[in-house]
Formats: sequence, C-alpha cells, structure tokens
Amino acid sequence: MIVIVRKPLVAGNWKMHGSRASNAALVGGIAAGLARNAPLTARCDVAIFPTFVHLESVAAVAAATPIAWGAQDCCAEPGPGAYTGEVAASSLQELGCRYVLVGHSERRALYGESDELVARKFVAAQAAGLVPVLCVGETLAERDRDETHAVVARQLGAVLERAGVAALARAVVAYEPVWAIGTGRTATPAQAQDVHAFIRGRIAALDGNIAGSVRLLYGGSVKASNAHELCSMPDVDGGLVGGASLNAEEFVAIVAAAARK
Ligand code: PGA
Repeated sequence: MIVIVRKPLVAGNWKMHGSRASNAALVGGIAAGLARNAPLTARCDVAIFPTFVHLESVAAVAAATPIAWGAQDCCAEPGPGAYTGEVAASSLQELGCRYVLVGHSERRALYGESDELVARKFVAAQAAGLVPVLCVGETLAERDRDETHAVVARQLGAVLERAGVAALARAVVAYEPVWAIGTGRTATPAQAQDVHAFIRGRIAALDGNIAGSVRLLYGGSVKASNAHELCSMPDVDGGLVGGASLNAEEFVAIVAAAARK
C-alpha cells in the first residue's frame, strides 16, 4: 500500500495591504514565531503573498527565513511583451517567487477574470517555473442554489482541460467559498471536507497518484481558533489566509495548528 503524506501549506494572502516598513516587521514577527517553535516548518510549509511592488523588499527579509513568497496574480501571456501594467510570471520567478495565486475570487469578481483567463495564467505560471495556487469557490447564491460542486468542477475543469492533469503535480488548489472570504463566516469543517473530497475525486478520476499528492487548501476566514478543526479534515492540507495573515502571532498559530495535522 502506498501511503502518501502531504505536507501542509499555510499561505498568507496580504492582498493590497502593507508598506515596506510594516511588511518587514510582519516577516520578522512571523520568522521569530516560527523559530521559537523550530520543528514547525519541518511539518508545515509557509508562504506569504505581498503586493507586486513589495515583493522585492519582502524577499530581501524572507530569504534568510524558512518562509517562501509568491505573488497574488500574474499575466496570462508569457513575457516579455507589450502588455502595459501587467507582470510576467518570469519576472516573479526572477524575484525568487515560488508560488503565484491564480483566480482568486476577488480577481474573478472585481476584475472579470474568466475560467479561461485563469487557466491561461496557470499555464503561464508553470511555464516560468512557479507553482500556481489555483483558487476556486462558489458564491453564496450558487451555494443556495446547490451549485457548489458544479461551479468548482467548472473552474477546475477549465484548468484541467488547458493544462492537463499532470500539471496538477506542480500546483496547489485552494477552495475558498466566496461567502466565507473576509466575512468572519467560515465554512464548517464538514462543508470544507465535502468540497475538498469532491475536488480530489475529480482529479482522481484522471490520475490517482496526482490526486493523492496534490495539496488542497481551505480559505475563507481561517483564524487561529478554527484552523485546527479545519486542517484535521482528511482532505484539507492547510489554509489560504487573508485577514489573519496580517498578524504575526495569529498567523504562526495557524501554522502551528496545520502542523499538528
Ligand atoms: P480571509 O481571506 O481569510 O480574510 O477570509 C482569504 C482569502 O481571500 O484568501
């Protein structure tokens, strides 16, 4: 029997927050918290996602720590090229990014990103050597209409169709119900597990090994007080954390909860 151990990942999405000074303090605080509990990063990967313009200064501080960093978005076109205002995945790679978020619900809802565009960003990220963190999730109206699985299947399907299932061996998927993001209303562990198992099942239908190894994160009002029960679910391999990632103590406590998995 093959036993697959998925190392949890806790990722902090800083959104449009932070200054050079506050970011340096936050990285320092997280690093100090992780160092106080040295085996933590042996049992849980940690990544932070500052704004594009802060990546370089954050990288300078984070480089000496076990914290990886990534961007919140990237251009769907492989760079370089005439795409004013866009940031190429290759530029992110040059800044030492390991990860990049693609298809965060705020990008989908506020900036009209389609499943197709997100799938192209996923491919562009991997082509530059980055690990895309594909965000999927339903709105409250979709959940109320019992469309959660259909929506997640469509969002995941667009990527599977364009990139192929093998690409998921070098990716992370984050399930983030839109109604739980920044609302303080978290999915119950059972609701999270249901969708995570559904996602893993869709992937397993194509490739069992990849389904067994791909990390599936839950996002949406994750905090220190609920991280352990969410991460205890068999198919929840960590969290994508927004608000609570801006507080070093809270974020480290979430890492500790995920590491206990
Ligand atoms: P939240 O955000 O933790 O503040 O709900 C999560 C996210 O948007 O990734």
